[in-house]
Amino acid sequence: MNNFEQQLLEKANILVEALPYIRKFYGKIFVIKYGGAAQKELHLKDAFAKDIVLLNFIGIKPIVVHGGGPKISEMMKKLGKEPQFIHGHRVTDRETMEIVEMILGGVINKEIVQLINSHGGKSIGLTGKDGNLLRAIKKRLKINEEETDLGYVGEIEQVSTEILESLQKDSFIPVVAPIGFDKNGNSYNINADTVASNIAVSMQAEKLILLTDVKGISDDSGNHIPTLKVEDALRLISENTISGGMIPKVYACLNALKGGVKKTHIIDGRVPHSLLLEIFTKKGIGTEIIL
Ligand SMILES: Nc1ncnc2c1ncn2[C@@H]1O[C@H](COP(=O)(O)OP(=O)(O)O)[C@@H](O)[C@H]1O
Ligand SMILES: [Mg+2]
Repeated sequence: MNNFEQQLLEKANILVEALPYIRKFYGKIFVIKYGGAAQKELHLKDAFAKDIVLLNFIGIKPIVVHGGGPKISEMMKKLGKEPQFIHGHRVTDRETMEIVEMILGGVINKEIVQLINSHGGKSIGLTGKDGNLLRAIKKRLKINEEETDLGYVGEIEQVSTEILESLQKDSFIPVVAPIGFDKNGNSYNINADTVASNIAVSMQAEKLILLTDVKGISDDSGNHIPTLKVEDALRLISENTISGGMIPKVYACLNALKGGVKKTHIIDGRVPHSLLLEIFTKKGIGTEIIL
């Protein structure tokens, strides 16, 4: 066999290795939280969009939920507002909520939709208001027994899956901005990991995958943890080894697993094609959280 034939054979082998996974996941729903570097750098954005389109063409049904914190902060500053965070939550007054809707539901959401479409996917963007997808209530946060007002930061009360089901029936890839509504016409800013987890449970997804800017979860010596049991994750939170934005991710995985989602992963969005590597290789990457 010459060199060229050898290379062709390697390509064929890669495809054949993916066969068991393709067969296993055919027709299954994957909920993917998209954020961090994968949302900023052009080559990573492109790789992500290609992965989503590829998954879709081999029969997996992806639902993308995105964040967009840095862009919201950037716009707030342009408009003369200083972003403020309490326990990782953005303090969201009415004006800030308008900025959140503009940036998340407008700019970022449509950018992702366009990116997926440009690679041959059929994507549609929505916020939690569309089709009544995400009904929310105001998040109550107590610090030292005292209630702290975060403004329009919400918690999910109900997920109405009808709109997602309709879109999937017609082979659309939904891209969801984490904005909820209540019956009084208020909008709420909701943590995107939490939204992804709730949608994964309501849609009985096979996998919940959270893309972030680190390799996964690290222990107190900074060593990467490939597999982590929920009880150990909760202990690491109580010991402050897991903190900040990693906390909602752990709870998102816990909630998903308890709600019947088969697998949950926190993966490194800085690695190109991290989604494909996670899904189609035995070892996987990142941290898998298990019950
Ligand atoms: N034990 C831990 N292992 C890894 N990351 C951690 C840990 N504890 C806290 N973090 C922090 O959590 C961050 C991820 O959350 P966040 O900043 O909200 O990212 P995203 O935009 O992906 O939601 C990491 O960048 C890291 O700074
Ligand atoms: Mg976060």
